[in-house]
Amino acid sequence: MKNIAILGCGGMGGGHAAAIASGTGNAIWAGVPGQKEGKLQPTDTDIGPLLSLAGICDIDPARVAWARERGYRVYDTYQDILDDPAVDIVLIATPNHLHKEEAISAMRSGKHVLCEKPVMMDSHELEEVLAVSAETGKVFYPRQNRRWDKDYIIAKKIFEDGTLGKVFNIECRVQGSRGIPGDWRAKKEFGGGMMLDWGVHLLDRLLVMVPEKVTRVFCDLTHVLNDEVDDGFKMHLTFESGLTAVLEVGTCHFSTLPLWFLAGSQGTAVIDNWDCTGRVTRLHSWEDKDARPILAGAGLTKTMAPRGDSSVETLPLPEVNFDNNELYVNLVDAIDGKAPQIVTGEHALRVMRLMEAAVRSAGTHAVVEFEPSLSV
Ligand SMILES: NC(=O)c1ccc[n+]([C@@H]2O[C@H](COP(=O)([O-])OP(=O)(O)OC[C@H]3O[C@@H](n4cnc5c(N)ncnc54)[C@H](O)[C@@H]3O)[C@@H](O)[C@H]2O)c1
Repeated sequence: MKNIAILGCGGMGGGHAAAIASGTGNAIWAGVPGQKEGKLQPTDTDIGPLLSLAGICDIDPARVAWARERGYRVYDTYQDILDDPAVDIVLIATPNHLHKEEAISAMRSGKHVLCEKPVMMDSHELEEVLAVSAETGKVFYPRQNRRWDKDYIIAKKIFEDGTLGKVFNIECRVQGSRGIPGDWRAKKEFGGGMMLDWGVHLLDRLLVMVPEKVTRVFCDLTHVLNDEVDDGFKMHLTFESGLTAVLEVGTCHFSTLPLWFLAGSQGTAVIDNWDCTGRVTRLHSWEDKDARPILAGAGLTKTMAPRGDSSVETLPLPEVNFDNNELYVNLVDAIDGKAPQIVTGEHALRVMRLMEAAVRSAGTHAVVEFEPSLSV
């Protein structure tokens, strides 16, 4: 059993507190006012025997009161957490600009660290933190929880199982219409912007899904509603094999494109949204005896005419099973030396470097090409 203390008990930290205190690991929404608690996945491991909530620390009296009402221990200062020998792990859930100093002081005080994403503001900060992790022997665990999103697990399964033949393009889009939250996420100095907020998730997952190096990246950042930080982006990546990917995040989209679009030589898959409706359209045979030109706008086309049932079939998305608590379980196993980290600091570093290349591309309006030896 490991004792975990939470620094920053806002939306995310409060959710973690409730999740850990309940033993379900899945009351993650409890920290958000108005949200109901509850298990998300019926298959989840009971994390009660693994993790115990030592307490929380927050500088906001309202969050402290929230924690007290729920019976959680409140540490007055971060130093009090660091000085508590009963604390094994510090979970960092403060705004992004604070993570580096907090992580370093935790590891230097003999604590392991579970750090919310984006783990750091940039790759230099992360290199520094990973050096301290290596020096102290303390685990630094990036919380890239969206590897356990059902839509991603379905997309990864389709990509890997050959259903689509040779996949040549992967697109993933997250589109909302509420702008950037008007808090620290809208300020550069606090690590705001959608590249750091959502880009880190999308890249983290893509780079796990496609086990290849990236050879080039091109990106546009958007500033539709916010000049200071990006309120969205569109990124094109090319992998060594020629496979391409498009990642897009928007905060001013009142109607959305599918969450996932995977195109292969033998089929196409669409995952519409987080409810995971969608379909796989798979080719029976290239030959389509029913092919006829159709009227398309002001002209005719046979090339773009939809295929009939004789040459394609439509399948439901595959079923997937996974444990939403795997990250918490793996954190404890990694600390005990029983398993390697599923989410590693080195992977987070690769993601950070790619995000930086994407931002460079946006600044210069040019493709960033990586020499083979420098490919990320
Ligand atoms: N993994 C995910 O899916 C996910 C989702 C949302 C947020 N996050 C990450 O979690 C972190 C927190 O985000 P959030 O949405 O909970 O923000 P938030 O603003 O709701 O909460 C941050 C909390 O930190 C507290 N805080 C600020 N400075 C502090 C300090 N010096 N000491 C102690 N507490 C301090 C604030 O009072 C606030 O309660 C960010 O890094 C964010 O990117 C991750």
